[in-house]
Amino acid sequence: LFTAVEMAPRDPILGLNEQFAADTNPNKVNLGVGVYFDDNGKLPLLQCVQAAEKTMMEKPTARGYLPIDGIVAYDNAVKGLVFGADSDVVKSGRVATVQAIGGTGGLKIGADFLKKLSPNATVLISDPSWENHRALFTNAGFNVDTYPYFDQSANGGLGGINFDGMLAKLNAAAEGTIVLLHACCHNPTGYDITPAQWDQVIAVVKARNLTAFLDMAYQGFGYGIAEDGAVIGKFVAAGLNIFVSTSFSKSFSLYGERVGALSVVGCSKEETDRVLSQLKIAIRTNYSNPPIHGGAIVAAVLGNPELRALWEKELGEMRVRIKAMRQKLVDGLKAAGVQKDMSFITTQIGMFSYSGLSKDQMVRLRSEFGVYGTDTGRMCVAALNSKNIDYVCQAIAKVI
Ligand code: LMR
Repeated sequence: LFTAVEMAPRDPILGLNEQFAADTNPNKVNLGVGVYFDDNGKLPLLQCVQAAEKTMMEKPTARGYLPIDGIVAYDNAVKGLVFGADSDVVKSGRVATVQAIGGTGGLKIGADFLKKLSPNATVLISDPSWENHRALFTNAGFNVDTYPYFDQSANGGLGGINFDGMLAKLNAAAEGTIVLLHACCHNPTGYDITPAQWDQVIAVVKARNLTAFLDMAYQGFGYGIAEDGAVIGKFVAAGLNIFVSTSFSKSFSLYGERVGALSVVGCSKEETDRVLSQLKIAIRTNYSNPPIHGGAIVAAVLGNPELRALWEKELGEMRVRIKAMRQKLVDGLKAAGVQKDMSFITTQIGMFSYSGLSKDQMVRLRSEFGVYGTDTGRMCVAALNSKNIDYVCQAIAKVI
């Protein structure tokens, strides 16, 4: 049965974790996967999460099946966070939200539903995009193409967004094309379009009758929770039917709990209820219903004003520390003798920096210095700290 099965390549991101774990270099630094580590290089267990878990442990509950679409309080908390609890769209019942197995699960449930709805639609993702976007939509049966996004030759070779190219491609897209957009903290480049440019994208999505699928895995890591989520409100205000996948992996440091969601905006409550019924079929046929623990933590934190304030504070601290590390990286590279102006690293936001390093340079960083980033030159600046920054700067300077 399996004689013709080929060995698949390692995953371009998670595969690096396997390689990193096997690396015996004592100075190794993992800037591959998008995970936040604190200044001691530790994965944080947030205080708000600990407080919620403590309360949960004081009143242990049995573990029955959740409803197919997850914990009601969780789904409502997601609606509140992403669309605003008092927004018209939520109050009028036009948002269907389902708990999902991480942001990836949200994307997959949306992709499966869309495949039934628009089987012949093309999916456009940014060039470049998170590697799993192409794989996920291809596996869901779609033809996946790209729209221009990052241009290394922009800004005198330092790199930047090719917005005209992006808009032109969207303008030429066939009606019904699905457009995958990064709501904030673009992965992998760290470059986001401006609010005014979002308005132009929304106008094209509306005029061309495209379907926007917003991936929001990093809400709170750019400028703030409300600021990063503002783009969703713009799409809603334009009267568009959108898909939004969200994740609490990074913002709650709950990576392994796989806590995410998919929200879909309909035109009326009645229509949205029909959409929800189809999303439930997609869930039921993939994994039946979601797990309890992670969703229960997030619902408890977001549903308690004190814990929510604590979460916002802790998320703010992560955001501020990442920004400080960006500056330290720029300064450290200069001090290590890098001639090229690397200050673009501080204009990028979120967890990632597209460094402009070539595949060869990234491979050398790994093999000679144990510094891991993706082959595309993406580095997770959220894993830099005051102890490893000098070493990383020296290593980058040597390969440049
Ligand atoms: C990343 O891009 O590194 C993260 O989103 C983790 C993942 O699943 O790839």
